[in-house]
Amino acid sequence: MRILVTGGAGYVGSHVVKLLGERGHQVLTYDNLSTGHRWAVLYGELVEADLGEEGKLEEVFQVFRPEAVMHFAASVVVPESVREPLKYYRNNVENAFKLIGVCLRFGVKAFVFSSSAAVYGVPEEVPVKEEAPLRPINPYGSSKVMVEQALEDCSRAYGLPYVSLRYFNVAGADPEARIGQASREPTHLITRALKAAAGRLPRIEIYGTDYPTPDGTCIRDYIHVEDLAEVHLLSLEYLLDGGRSRVYNCGYGRGHSVREVIEEVKRVTGVDFSVVEGPRRPGDPPELVADPSRIKAELGWSPRYGDLGSIIETAWRWERRLEDVLREA
Ligand code: UFG
Repeated sequence: MRILVTGGAGYVGSHVVKLLGERGHQVLTYDNLSTGHRWAVLYGELVEADLGEEGKLEEVFQVFRPEAVMHFAASVVVPESVREPLKYYRNNVENAFKLIGVCLRFGVKAFVFSSSAAVYGVPEEVPVKEEAPLRPINPYGSSKVMVEQALEDCSRAYGLPYVSLRYFNVAGADPEARIGQASREPTHLITRALKAAAGRLPRIEIYGTDYPTPDGTCIRDYIHVEDLAEVHLLSLEYLLDGGRSRVYNCGYGRGHSVREVIEEVKRVTGVDFSVVEGPRRPGDPPELVADPSRIKAELGWSPRYGDLGSIIETAWRWERRLEDVLREA
């Protein structure tokens, strides 16, 4: 099958491109390389272009004729979205609308969208079900809600079948350490803790120890990027089998506190790096854990890396290779 992947040179996108390539699909990555990397695209062609260039996008569709589209390309840094909301509405909303329009013109049969748990804001009930109210608390989350709304309306009006995947906390890397999280200034907990273990950060700070959780730190549902990649493939197969448009929470349904994560990083790496306790980071919900019942029941998803240790081990292997990869690039 011919699949066009926007943002295929980024963190999650590149793992999905790898899986699609391994399963024999014909993949084309469309990425402006603003945060992605050429070396991360392990299969298929890479077209370096921006989604804002609608003419270019149409040209690529004309030649490649994708049967399915997976849309990862987006800006993803929550605090940045608060400072620069228009950047998020342009990159995440306007560009998605353009892409949806082109998909409709070219008769794309399936559309898989990268959404986020950020659509829920601070959920009232945990584990979070897909029916929970959408109350984003930052422009990043709002941008995802807007695209989901557009997809729902377009699906109804024009029959574009889609699946929207609401990612919880994605982490981990390719077990062979060929690709992984490659941001120079990561904000995510596991990546930062591993950088502290590698001596690339002097210490890690815990953002808040007075939350209403058993150890006072925030709880998250960390999902391995390889398991998440599998969800994308299952979503595609589901849509092509005639499945109706659907939204799924992507997580294991099991939470880990910040302290637990840091302890596990110390255990896996064998490094006792420095940890300091600091104030809360604005906008962090105390607990964010997915209810994965729907995705398991409807897509038959069974995760392979459901323990925190494997997530951290693969990410650690990658973290130790990263500087060499960036130097060679
Ligand atoms: N944290 C620390 N120290 C750090 C980094 C993070 O204590 O150096 C804490 C955070 O405060 C939070 C937890 O670790 O409690 C996880 O933080 P991350 O930054 O790793 O991830 P988030 O939960 O903030 O982000 C995730 C997704 C976003 C999504 C958001 C919705 O990565 O895409 O959930 O709340 F928008």
